[in-house]
Amino acid sequence: MARSWVNSAERIGADLHLDLSESSGVSGASGPGGRRAALTRGLREAVRDGRLAPGTRLPPYRSLAADLGIARNTVADAYAELVAEGWLTARQGSGTRVAERAEPLRRAERVPRKAPPRARGPRHDLRQGTPDASAFPRAAWLASYRRALQQAPNEVFGPGDPAGRIELREALTEYLARARGVRTEPGRIVICSGFAHALRLLFSQEGGGVLRGPLAMEAYGLGFHRELLAAAGVRTVPLPLDEDGARVDRLARERAVLLTPAHQFPTGGPLHPERRAAVIDWARARGGVVLEDDYDGEFRYDRKPVGAVQGLDPERVIFIGSVSKSLSPAVRLGWMVLPERFVGDVLAAKGEREAWASVLDQLSLADFIVSGAYDRHVRRMRQRYRSRRDRLVSALAAHAPDIEVTGVAAGLHAVLRLPPGSERSVVKAATWQGIALEGLAEFRHPEAAEPGMPVRDGIVVGYATPSEHAYGAALEALCGVLPPGP
Ligand SMILES: Cc1ncc(COP(=O)(O)O)c(C=O)c1O
Repeated sequence: MARSWVNSAERIGADLHLDLSESSGVSGASGPGGRRAALTRGLREAVRDGRLAPGTRLPPYRSLAADLGIARNTVADAYAELVAEGWLTARQGSGTRVAERAEPLRRAERVPRKAPPRARGPRHDLRQGTPDASAFPRAAWLASYRRALQQAPNEVFGPGDPAGRIELREALTEYLARARGVRTEPGRIVICSGFAHALRLLFSQEGGGVLRGPLAMEAYGLGFHRELLAAAGVRTVPLPLDEDGARVDRLARERAVLLTPAHQFPTGGPLHPERRAAVIDWARARGGVVLEDDYDGEFRYDRKPVGAVQGLDPERVIFIGSVSKSLSPAVRLGWMVLPERFVGDVLAAKGEREAWASVLDQLSLADFIVSGAYDRHVRRMRQRYRSRRDRLVSALAAHAPDIEVTGVAAGLHAVLRLPPGSERSVVKAATWQGIALEGLAEFRHPEAAEPGMPVRDGIVVGYATPSEHAYGAALEALCGVLPPGP
């Protein structure tokens, strides 16, 4: 007997299927006792997992019995048992219903959790950090994925090599040399799930602590990275910034320094060539390590591409990049280009098998790069972001000519410098107008307010974040909240 009570379910308004077959696990389901047990169990399950909501009226004995092809008494007995257990209630005149108090049990035990109500997003999203999500190259990625899957040898579907797929490491060796001036070979590249993962691998004590603090970092940077390092027990020391980038002359006894040389995050400028040389001198003299965060190195709009510092001395610099700005932070793929002496320790920190970066995604990215799709996408996005940058600059020139814009030669965001003391009120006004953006204070190292570390007022505008059609309105709204000139 394997019957559903579709008819009755329609009558009670619930879409319910009861399996009373032998395979339902109820022994002897074919006998009268077995049928009652199967029905009782089926109804109990339906209440528990939410198919029968509290308050739902169950069909009368007769119709359910007819639907299921069982005796009326069998249904009556099953209902009575469930009433006695508290799953159902029976009241004269209102029939048999699912008990209200079955609800908490149902929630706690079985029901798939309801999605939390969706927070309504800001009307205009100008937060830095995300490329234009509407521009993800879906078709080209799909083509690469398909090719990668078709060509993958069977061993791909076994445990992954923690170094990453050789196809991807080879593709990156060529690409990074050509596009970023990185000098390496596949054996020195370790694939990871992005920059944050690289930091964890390098500093986590669980991973054996490939590097140790104190770590110098730019006085303005991503708070999330500082928190991640603090959680790993790494002390971080802020380096002041000026118009030539980080003051690397202030490096002293730190063991390593983390820099964003191509485009200081978030204030904007490239590290001056003399400072690039100076930081390498420091590393050579002190045995220090330079961590190069190349988070948006591909997006440079003037004609002077800034190559990687790593090219100056591949044995002193750990170069780290990811697809988070070029493709999407959802892909979770990144790479570390390591000095030879760190390769073994980083691989040991990763463990015996690849546990973070999907091997299939790695193969897709390898295909995406080798087929030229990555270059095409970056070129297309560079044009799009350059035009957004130009629109931002001209909107400000027209509506807020006293606001200085910095960091616009590259990247996906700009910094609008504000009169001292005005940052908080501008961020607040923006929030009131439904504009999401961050003030520079969000990015300041907690120890960076000391003497010799100038505090800056400004807002960081992520001009890549809105989709193309939403950008104009976001710009207009932004101009509306900026303070008038002096
Ligand atoms: C300063 C900085 N570094 C690195 C990254 C990349 O981080 P991840 O690769 O962990 O997504 C970002 C964000 O995309 C960033 O803003």
